[in-house]
Amino acid sequence: MKACIFDLDGVLVDTAKYHFIAWKRLANELGVDFTEHDNEQLKGLSRDASLDYILVKASIIATTSEREVWKERKNNWYLDLVNQMPEDEVLPNCKELLAELKKHNIKIALGSASKNAKLILDRVNITQYFDAIIDGSKTSKSKPDPEVFLLGAKEIACQPEECIVFEDAISGLKAAKSGGFFAIGIGEEEVLTEADIVFPNLLTLNYEQLLKIFRGE
Ligand code: G6P
Ligand code: MG
Repeated sequence: MKACIFDLDGVLVDTAKYHFIAWKRLANELGVDFTEHDNEQLKGLSRDASLDYILVKASIIATTSEREVWKERKNNWYLDLVNQMPEDEVLPNCKELLAELKKHNIKIALGSASKNAKLILDRVNITQYFDAIIDGSKTSKSKPDPEVFLLGAKEIACQPEECIVFEDAISGLKAAKSGGFFAIGIGEEEVLTEADIVFPNLLTLNYEQLLKIFRGE
């Protein structure tokens, strides 16, 4: 185990709930319902792919300029929420785990579809832990394509099989597994069936235990 690659939204920071509120608001405005189940499908997808999902659900064929307006509207609502987010909304044990991994010379990378990733890392004050930050501005393919994690591994000079990926999204776990990574799901075991192992959150995780899990002990 040489590196850990973390998804952001829903793994390190509890921003998944803000994405949900903002997408729901847009979907409702476009005349369609948006449920927790819909939200689960959108986790990990890019902003563009998320809008596609809602437009299909609403049976709307949109022009490019309409799409831009709607994506911006959703993002502004999302940013309003995120900008009110206190620093302590970083998820429990996140900072402790990142610090412990650093102490053991484990490389740390971010693998997120979000174009707001840097802003959020700064907001909760964890940017300094990352050796590489791959966000939505550096990728061209949305999860479940493994591009984001492969770029992360490359930037920290590691092979996929030397890394653990932490993900809360079905699409993200598919991305990790198809890229050849060991994948830890963060969330519910019944939902995250692609993961090698699932934990409800980061709370109980530590370096020694991750080593054991990684080695299959
Ligand atoms: C993450 C979230 C998605 C979000 C995507 C793009 O992967 O799980 O819900 O849509 O990032 O985020 P952005 O902040 O660029 O809209
Ligand atoms: Mg996520």
